[in-house]
Amino acid sequence: MIRFAIIGAGRIGQVHARAVAAHPEATLTLVYDAFEAPAKALAEARGARYTLDIDEVYNAADVDAVIIGSPTAMHVEHILGSVRVGKRVLCEKPVALDMAEAVRCMEELGDEARRVMLGFNRRFDPSFAEINARVADGEIGQLQQLTVTSRDPQGPPAEYVAGSGGIFKDMTIHDFDMVRFFLGDIVEVSAFGTNADEAIKAAGDFDQAMVLLRNADGALATIVNSRTCAYGYDQRLEAFGADGALNAENLTATSVRKASATQTQAQGPVLDFFLSRYEAAYSRELDAFIAAVVEDREISPNIVDGVEALRLAEAATQSAREGRTVRL
Ligand SMILES: NC(=O)c1ccc[n+]([C@@H]2O[C@H](COP(=O)([O-])OP(=O)(O)OC[C@H]3O[C@@H](n4cnc5c(N)ncnc54)[C@H](O)[C@@H]3O)[C@@H](O)[C@H]2O)c1
Repeated sequence: MIRFAIIGAGRIGQVHARAVAAHPEATLTLVYDAFEAPAKALAEARGARYTLDIDEVYNAADVDAVIIGSPTAMHVEHILGSVRVGKRVLCEKPVALDMAEAVRCMEELGDEARRVMLGFNRRFDPSFAEINARVADGEIGQLQQLTVTSRDPQGPPAEYVAGSGGIFKDMTIHDFDMVRFFLGDIVEVSAFGTNADEAIKAAGDFDQAMVLLRNADGALATIVNSRTCAYGYDQRLEAFGADGALNAENLTATSVRKASATQTQAQGPVLDFFLSRYEAAYSRELDAFIAAVVEDREISPNIVDGVEALRLAEAATQSAREGRTVRL
């Protein structure tokens, strides 16, 4: 049984607490947050104790592993603090708000980096994972183009945007990791950003973005992002190769379709947001983390994946701001 502490009892902390509760080899013993209300609510809901003192997490003898869902600016401090006292870590994306901090984290971790997993949960989505495995098996021949579509149902609150690092580091980071999952290292990035949401514009961030990337073999990827989407959480992927294509479409609660005199193929709404759409991915992510901890082996995705996704986010930010392609 792996005994977990959760740092940060917000949206994603609650998602992880649910996955831990559902896992037969995991139990939640402690919740830490900077504020009492979220810490207490999550701890009480999951039968754990809570603390407002981070040292209690580090010193807890009944905590083997820590899940970090604190605001991004706190990730490096929480990773280093947990690893220093011998805990295993599953940390949410992105590693940090800038490359210098992420690289410092990687360097300070040294060999202990093997104890840290990065929360790129979409690699564990059953559909995306299957496409990745089938591409690797050569089923569609040489991979030539990857299209990743990711649109949120509604924008985050302004205070979240302010501390998020911007759309490329906060949102597109998942898609940068997905592109690396399929195409490996990227050599060119061209990004465009624009605004349809006045509140996000006022916060100094883009709410719509498109990014074009190329790897050293010449394979291309396109990422399509929007912070808002009228029909819900739009999460699709297409891998296009010399011998065919593999597609993952949006998921709905059931597969029921309606046909009538005025329409065909009408379906219920798409799953509403990350908690429901990626529920299986978070649970498979936790499975992979626990298996690596139990077998004491390398964890993937790791800190290098976190740093490299952030490198792409910084390149995209520069590209969109300066109106030019960035070569890596
Ligand atoms: N993988 C995913 O699908 C996914 C989804 C959402 C968020 N995230 C990531 O998770 C992190 C948290 O995002 P969220 O949406 O849950 O935010 P949130 O604002 O809902 O929750 C953050 C929580 O951290 C607490 N907090 C504030 N300062 C703190 C501190 N110094 N130490 C510890 N806790 C502190 C807040 O009180 C709050 O409870 C971000 O890094 C975000 O990028 C990942």
